[in-house]
Amino acid sequence: MKDYGKYFKTPSIDDARKRVKGSEVIDFKLSDQFLNFGKEKKYVIQTYGCQGNEADSERMSGILEKMSFTEANDLSEADIILLNTCAIRGNAENRVFGEMGRLKSFKRNNPNLLLGVCGCMPQEESVVNKLLKQYPYVDLIFGTHNIHKIPEYLYTAYLDKERVVEVYSSEGDIVEDIPKIRDNKHKAWINIMYGCDEFCTYCIVPYTRGRERSRKPAAILAEVVKLVEDGYQEITLLGQNVNAYGQDLESGYSFADLLRDLNDTGINRIRFTTSHPRDLNEDTIKAMADCDHVMEHLHLPVQSGSDSILKKMNRKYTREDYLKLVKQLKAHIPDISITTDIIVGFPNESEDDFLETLSLVKEVGFEGAFTFIYSKREGTPAAKYEDDVPEDEKKRRLYRLNDVTNDGYLNGNKRFENTIVEVLVDSVSKNDKEKLSGYSRHNKLVNFTGNEESIGKIVKVRILEAKTWHLLGEEVN
Ligand code: SAH
Ligand code: SF4
Ligand code: F3S
Repeated sequence: MKDYGKYFKTPSIDDARKRVKGSEVIDFKLSDQFLNFGKEKKYVIQTYGCQGNEADSERMSGILEKMSFTEANDLSEADIILLNTCAIRGNAENRVFGEMGRLKSFKRNNPNLLLGVCGCMPQEESVVNKLLKQYPYVDLIFGTHNIHKIPEYLYTAYLDKERVVEVYSSEGDIVEDIPKIRDNKHKAWINIMYGCDEFCTYCIVPYTRGRERSRKPAAILAEVVKLVEDGYQEITLLGQNVNAYGQDLESGYSFADLLRDLNDTGINRIRFTTSHPRDLNEDTIKAMADCDHVMEHLHLPVQSGSDSILKKMNRKYTREDYLKLVKQLKAHIPDISITTDIIVGFPNESEDDFLETLSLVKEVGFEGAFTFIYSKREGTPAAKYEDDVPEDEKKRRLYRLNDVTNDGYLNGNKRFENTIVEVLVDSVSKNDKEKLSGYSRHNKLVNFTGNEESIGKIVKVRILEAKTWHLLGEEVN
């Protein structure tokens, strides 16, 4: 492999921070010269990170298969391996660096193997510098804003044998019509918007994903109508802050409008993630309540129960605002299940701050929570905050918090004992081949005895017993 030729562009965090208005919508088109390029070549894509990354991997597979690549069964037969990475916390990044170490031996065994790193990590200046210095065997580096250019990058890397590094610091256009190979035949991810403008002080996403920009309603609706025709049962709308959907469109069309229009497409189940409490309004809550196909579950990250920490996090709501939202949600959707994300050990979080978080968790009665220890992200405002909380104290707080959130999982499951719930059946259960498994409307994992022909369908299940992490039941006819 020669050194850099046609492509050499590294990111700058200062440019990534800028917000410039106005993105165009362009349509993806694969030029004929690339159509057969991947014949007899195989690919592997490893995905780290959030649903947004999973959706991006489905697009990358779509482009590769359009170029006639086929998916490899395992790493040893791959001609190209792409790591679609996540930058959200230090441990997410360490996993990727660990994997790259392991892949070095595959490169040694097969010198023609192309190894690429893409996704959120290359959007970070410090990561690209490290890759260039310490991982010279990585052939291809690109970010989140230029997936549509994969064909050119592969062409250059394979035929010209040039290393490709191209990361845009800021978002470009919204690219529609990128082909997708969806991972699942009855549940689909739908991006409704890209980027994030919230700038929570701990978070890297506004830098790795660029400015908030919404897809046009017509494009989203057309995608869902097609999925209904293809027999899909469930969609999950994706955005870092779905409640801000439409704020950048001139039409005044909002997230609530989108929910109502999607409800009429005939899709059976509508979920969405993630909601930011600041932008969740009563209009949206009413739309959720009115729309039969919108599920009775909301993931509403709170991050902390302490006003002083919320302020330092730049979350732009108070504990009281959050509790008010929960009240509104329960007033309109009495049996709603609410789950959340929480960070412990934010710089200078005191024992009292932490106790406020614990008491909020109990007061809301969260039925699930992703809990994290704060991880310093270079380039974010919080990275400059001084911190006097020792690492082992942060760990203790995480364990104490998890004890309380685990109770919430169990209580949330208990309320379904001896009831009948609707389950969209995913597959045979991973841990018990005698059972099927799927999710209820309230997003509870249900393992149950039933008929394998139900896979991909919505069936009724009688709940016999609630465990902490799942419900046990039997299919009823
Ligand atoms: N856009 C979503 C969340 C995206 S990241 C939202 O705002 O709700 C998913 C979760 O990772 C966040 O909710 C937060 O709890 C956690 N997270 C983000 N940055 C983090 C960091 N630097 N350290 C620890 N956890 C973090
Ligand atoms: Fe990160 Fe905050 Fe944006 Fe979520 S809303 S992606 S936590 S900056
Ligand atoms: Fe990770 Fe990027 Fe998603 S940082 S959480 S993959 S937006």
